Amino acid sequence: METNHRKQWDDLIQPGMVHGSLYHDEMIFKEEVEKIWFRTWVYVGHESEVPNKNDFVTKSIGPMPVLMVRNRRGDIDLLLNRCPHRGNAVCVQEKGNRTSFTCPYHSWTFSNDGTLMNYAFPEGYNGADKSKLGLSKVPRVAIYRGFVFASMALDGPTLGEHLGGAVRTLDQACDNSPTGELNLSAGFLRHRTRANWKFILENECDGYHPAFVHSSIFSVSDSAIGSLYGADAVAVTRSFGNGHTEVDPRPEFRRRNEPMSWFGTTAEKLPDYVAQMNSTYGEQRARQIMIDGMPHVMIFPNLFIAEIQIFVIQPVSATESIQHVTAIQFKDSPEINRRLRQQTMGSVGPAGFLLADDTEMYERNQRGLEIRSPEYLYLKRGEHRERRDEDGLLVGHSTDDLPSREIWKHYRSLMEAH
Ligand code: FES
Ligand code: FE
Repeated sequence: METNHRKQWDDLIQPGMVHGSLYHDEMIFKEEVEKIWFRTWVYVGHESEVPNKNDFVTKSIGPMPVLMVRNRRGDIDLLLNRCPHRGNAVCVQEKGNRTSFTCPYHSWTFSNDGTLMNYAFPEGYNGADKSKLGLSKVPRVAIYRGFVFASMALDGPTLGEHLGGAVRTLDQACDNSPTGELNLSAGFLRHRTRANWKFILENECDGYHPAFVHSSIFSVSDSAIGSLYGADAVAVTRSFGNGHTEVDPRPEFRRRNEPMSWFGTTAEKLPDYVAQMNSTYGEQRARQIMIDGMPHVMIFPNLFIAEIQIFVIQPVSATESIQHVTAIQFKDSPEINRRLRQQTMGSVGPAGFLLADDTEMYERNQRGLEIRSPEYLYLKRGEHRERRDEDGLLVGHSTDDLPSREIWKHYRSLMEAH
């Protein structure tokens, strides 16, 4: 049995090649839900989405809906949105503020920490033990600088172990805020995509496509971002292990040596923000942060920080996914926040120039896989020029397939585990 199991993965995931069925087989998708989405750490939401006691938002872990609640003690709970009675959703609102949830089917009422408070017509229950009939909670919740992660596994690696070196990118993102804190309450756009979640995951740090797929936005916006993804770019891709990958443009921005160049602007155009940064970090450190800019990192399996936006990937089925996207806002920085929102609308809004192009590619990829030959996808670009950086992490050219290869390596280790 074990031998067959091994053989299956040896066959599906080969060095630099992956089998097309990994993107459309519903049985594989079911196994991914169990072995990846319900086992590893998954990003759920951000503390700033529930700033006040009794605030809640509807979120998900893989295809499963959860409620992220700030309970009356001020702590964050993740509750499974399933009534213990017959399974109805106890909350269908997207967000709000409430101390209790009442199931619409037979009116059982739960406190916002999940405890069953009352059921209708109690005489019919003859003293049933309410303490055993509360909403289930996600067993492990951990928060890093406001980012709320969850794991459905009772034990396993800690969040710190899971993130490893990728934690630097979360720090980098927060450090661009003059208060050191992000605010992710600008609201989410949802993009439903007829493509497997892994096409999206792999695309986020694929630096090979922007020069072609995004040439229109680069030309109309007169953007210098295109130069990060040319054949002679000095930007690199990096793997942090555990499936986390980034495109690191800092070598290019350091070469330009211009604060705010990463944002397509200059320090003079954002005087309030620059003053705030200088007063928080001191001029020298502030200047370095503003030269380096925001990260472009894909935290496995579902959190993509794309400089000025956060994308959360939600798998729906083998052939469908939802991308939830919001503008990053820096806490208490109205001047730059306005521009962050405007640029987000321009790139990923309903009439945006960027995500529509990517989505078109995901969906065409997915349709293409209905053609059964050749059986494998080819991921060998840049294999010969992979190297280790000063921290021992694997890096490649910004246009190389290194992120995909590293994602599949980690994917395989999770799927092979028992
Ligand atoms: Fe919720 Fe019956 S299903 S009260
Ligand atoms: Fe893209």
